[in-house]
Amino acid sequence: MPITFESTSRTFHLRNEQVSYLIRVLENGTLGHLHFGGSLAESGSYGRLSGREFLGFANRLGAPVALECPTPGTGDYRVPALVVEQQDGSTALDPRFVSHRVFGGKPAIPGLPSTYVQSYDEAETLEILLADTPASLEVRLFFTIFADRPVIARSARVRNVGTEPLTVECAMSAALDLPDSDWDLVHLSGAWARECEVRTRRLEAGSQSIGSVRGASGHQHNPFLALKRPSTTEESGEAYGLSLVYSGNFLAEAEVDQYQTTRLRIGINPEGFSWTLEPAAEFCTPEAILVYSDAGMGALSDAYHGLYRDRLGRGVWRDAPRPIVINNWEATYFDFDEPRLLEIATAAHGLGIEMFVLDDGWFGRRDNDDTSLGDWTANRDKLPGGVEGLARQIEALGLRFGIWIEPEMVSQRSQLYADHSDWVVGVPTRPRTEGRNQFVLDMSRREVVDHLYGVLSDLLGRAPISYVKWDMNRTITEPFSPSLAADRQGEFFHRYILGVYELYERLTRAFPQVLFESCAGGGGRFDPGMLPFAPQAWTSDDTDAVERLRIQWGTSLCYPVSAMAAHVSAVPNHQTGRLTPLATRAAVAFFGVLGYELDPAALSDEDRESVKGQIAFYKAHRDLLQRGRLARLRSPFEGDGNEAAWLIASPDSRRAVVGHYRVLNRPNRGPARLRLRGLDPKTSYRVSVWPAGEDPVSTANTGLRGGDELMRVGLLVASDDPDDSRNVGDFTARLFDLEAQEATHRRARA
Ligand code: DGJ
Repeated sequence: MPITFESTSRTFHLRNEQVSYLIRVLENGTLGHLHFGGSLAESGSYGRLSGREFLGFANRLGAPVALECPTPGTGDYRVPALVVEQQDGSTALDPRFVSHRVFGGKPAIPGLPSTYVQSYDEAETLEILLADTPASLEVRLFFTIFADRPVIARSARVRNVGTEPLTVECAMSAALDLPDSDWDLVHLSGAWARECEVRTRRLEAGSQSIGSVRGASGHQHNPFLALKRPSTTEESGEAYGLSLVYSGNFLAEAEVDQYQTTRLRIGINPEGFSWTLEPAAEFCTPEAILVYSDAGMGALSDAYHGLYRDRLGRGVWRDAPRPIVINNWEATYFDFDEPRLLEIATAAHGLGIEMFVLDDGWFGRRDNDDTSLGDWTANRDKLPGGVEGLARQIEALGLRFGIWIEPEMVSQRSQLYADHSDWVVGVPTRPRTEGRNQFVLDMSRREVVDHLYGVLSDLLGRAPISYVKWDMNRTITEPFSPSLAADRQGEFFHRYILGVYELYERLTRAFPQVLFESCAGGGGRFDPGMLPFAPQAWTSDDTDAVERLRIQWGTSLCYPVSAMAAHVSAVPNHQTGRLTPLATRAAVAFFGVLGYELDPAALSDEDRESVKGQIAFYKAHRDLLQRGRLARLRSPFEGDGNEAAWLIASPDSRRAVVGHYRVLNRPNRGPARLRLRGLDPKTSYRVSVWPAGEDPVSTANTGLRGGDELMRVGLLVASDDPDDSRNVGDFTARLFDLEAQEATHRRARA
């Protein structure tokens, strides 16, 4: 994976077996971009790829020049990566190459989460120093290539080397110029309870972007964007991914210019952002993760999954099996007391569940969502022994104990608000907007972070708490902090999220054994920035199995299954009113970190036995399901959306679990097959169907099948027996459990 520098053409080549990234110092010292894509020979000379140097406006008469750090005021009219206002009010900037260095490994980014390596040979980093002398500005660009991933990590740091303050107006984490625009733009859009819908549209002339100005990455858009060729599928064709390791306001944008070249950029949203850079001060951007795939969207996702699970997630919970939880939220909402919780926990334990999570409503006078956020002491009417008392009783039952908290928030009706109304985000001269009857605490203030650290460390230190669900149920409406000077209010949003990271950092260091799950009314802050602290997130408040097919499919474009908490809930579903079979709810939740969110004490005998079976199945397959490789097989976003299918295979392809789902039943369907991926074509697999059945599909599939046959012909998912569709009903699911039976070459043996 060497990074090489060819001094004649001043070309850098970051290369591994899967990708090459080529940068050239152009004749005039501007940093040009030559190529990011499939791997090129190490020995080649690629200087000619740049065509011409960047001459600003004059270049616009010819082919546009691809740049690594585009800036305004030089005649590059495309969107910039860096905008800095100088003392005289000008923003023209023309950073030129000064020097570079290459080193093993990958540096951390101060104050910000980022991917990492465990040994220096896992990655190599190129650091390029650029300078703009009139602005007294230095720019350091970081490019990391990993030894065995089709990934480039990028970030930038800007430093004021002058004597007067500068103002950073835009500091993107990465810009990437591509030579054509024959791409479909893919992004994840949604809303509360409808997160991560896959949106695909043709790239058009002009700019198209997604982003957030809410203070969190948000339900509406995820900080992820992909380009794929129109012919690219899950298993073939080119695709690029851009993802931002950040949880605050972001922008991801694609701009097509008049020559049909494409500029991508991703970073902190410049809207509402500015950052004063005092002399000698440095500003660090978050990290952008760029992926290239020539093997379809599946390989693109696979690259993100591996990196985010293994080299962004950290701590003991990165690799440890995640527990199966029972969460009391949908079973009780705010209406519970200790005996009721113990009843739920006792029944859950009998089913094989491993952790009890006490959700909202345990503190202050919290009997509805109108009160008490900020007063994190137990309501003794509900919990006479406090959190400690309940936690100890739960542990005595043989379960571990977890708790919900929403640290960044405060209710107007709370002691914290009475004591510290000045800690609330808002403009003092204006009314503050309430959302879910609550205000946001100003996490840009040190005393707020310190206070919350005190409260949380006290809670975690006093009771045997193994898990924390960290919720955040509203975003920011009036961004302003009285603690910041008038000309520094543009720093507020970024300082807010730095405060959140600092709190998480201190807590995860002090309580490394605690599993944190991030949550923001479901998937409102499901982004890579959270993963180092909370390796899993509550994917959505929508627990309906049919809805979850879409949500989990979309989320999986960028995030691993081990990051997606997925619970089996009661029917009629609380979000949709839909009645789905229990087996279907489980078969969907298995493709996430399984949990339950219902009253297990209210289950019928039959359902109780079913749930026991589900939990036994999940435990037997947990390592595979939480750490295997996901292959998406049939998209709920394509065709009539009536079917979905995916599988998870072990890294050695010896085991796999396939999930196939049909939303509405159709009579007399005729036979249908599902081709698999990720198996070894030379291996025989024993196929069993879960839950076991006597129906024609189960019978036809059960037994020994070749990997070649399963991938090239497929599993039967509907038979030509008309009886197969009768009495089955809607919202059905089938799991196929595959286990390799031999390692030898089947054809050779035959
Ligand atoms: C929103 C979360 O997503 C739910 O799971 C639940 O914890 C509620 N908040 C509690 O207020």
